[in-house]
Amino acid sequence: MNYVNSILEVIGKTPLLKLNRVGGGGANVFVKLEHLNPSGSYKDRMALAMVEASERGETWNGRKLLPGGTVVEASAGNTAPAVALVCAAKGYKSKIFLYRYNFTNGVDARLKITQAYGPTVEISSEPEKYLSKEEMAAFTKENPDLPHVMAGKQDCALEEEKDSNTVWVDQIYNNANCIGQTEMGREIFDQLDGKVDAFGCSVSSGASLYGTCLGLKEKGLRPEITFGVVPEGSEQYFELKNKEESGRDEFHVSDIKKRIADAMGLKKWVTEQSIVERMINAGYPDKIFCVTAEEARGMANRLCSEEGIYCGMSSGANVAIALRIASRLKKGQNVVTLIVDRRDRYLSEYPNDKYVV
Ligand SMILES: Cc1ncc(COP(=O)(O)O)c(C=O)c1O
Repeated sequence: MNYVNSILEVIGKTPLLKLNRVGGGGANVFVKLEHLNPSGSYKDRMALAMVEASERGETWNGRKLLPGGTVVEASAGNTAPAVALVCAAKGYKSKIFLYRYNFTNGVDARLKITQAYGPTVEISSEPEKYLSKEEMAAFTKENPDLPHVMAGKQDCALEEEKDSNTVWVDQIYNNANCIGQTEMGREIFDQLDGKVDAFGCSVSSGASLYGTCLGLKEKGLRPEITFGVVPEGSEQYFELKNKEESGRDEFHVSDIKKRIADAMGLKKWVTEQSIVERMINAGYPDKIFCVTAEEARGMANRLCSEEGIYCGMSSGANVAIALRIASRLKKGQNVVTLIVDRRDRYLSEYPNDKYVV
């Protein structure tokens, strides 16, 4: 007999695929097929780690997730279905705040996917509820999505305060997010017998990049090149591209997080170090690359039609940069990146004729 007892056992152990048609000369490019995880993204790994850490009471305030408890999180995308899936499989309740700025186009595929796992889903509050007029203006100038992100976080903080059997897992600051992603590094090391010359992927909380690098490090490997990828449309792209002092190889995300934390008065954010800050302090990554939406989307379409990989835009961005790195390395060397998620969640976001091949 060969079967599993829980869907959670299916998380991870994803195949590593060598690209055949997309790409050119130079080093080999390998992609880890993380879109094959149960909810369709690599976030299943971290959601499981964060919920299990909460069960052990490994949370910022020592709060323990008990039977009958609720997990709360705010998310723009993949973390929402992943947390809801893990809670469904373990028998916890979950409450997900989806960021309001995502819902300008009516029905959203990510909302539908998340709802399928049975959580309570709410659209985050209007930011005016928490921010003064001046703060609103300052953050909107910085990035129009930012006030909405902050409102989602503040909703979670209040939710946790209201009920002692609720745990806000907060992926931006949760060390278990990073720990959940370390297994990717160990798997990649084993799949290539330790021959990983370059590794990189897209960065938001930073946990996938940093966690994978830590997994490789555990095996005694620090690749020659580590790279972060920042696709257009993300908070970080805005920060890196649109601010005077920023350039290709700089990373200032931690600064804005601290300033926001002060403005919002979230005690936890003021006192804790974010994963991005920890990653930078540990010397990762060597380089950061910004990728336009057009390049990312074009590569995602090619991965789908030429390699049969049904992936979203940030996977396209990852591969576009991996190919650039490969062209600078020698034949026989190995560059590895991640196929982050499945394309289905973006079907309502882009006009189909443009996005779906
Ligand atoms: C599509 C996509 N790409 C990249 C990332 C970044 O992952 P991480 O938060 O581990 O840096 C996320 C995370 O939210 C994501 O949903």
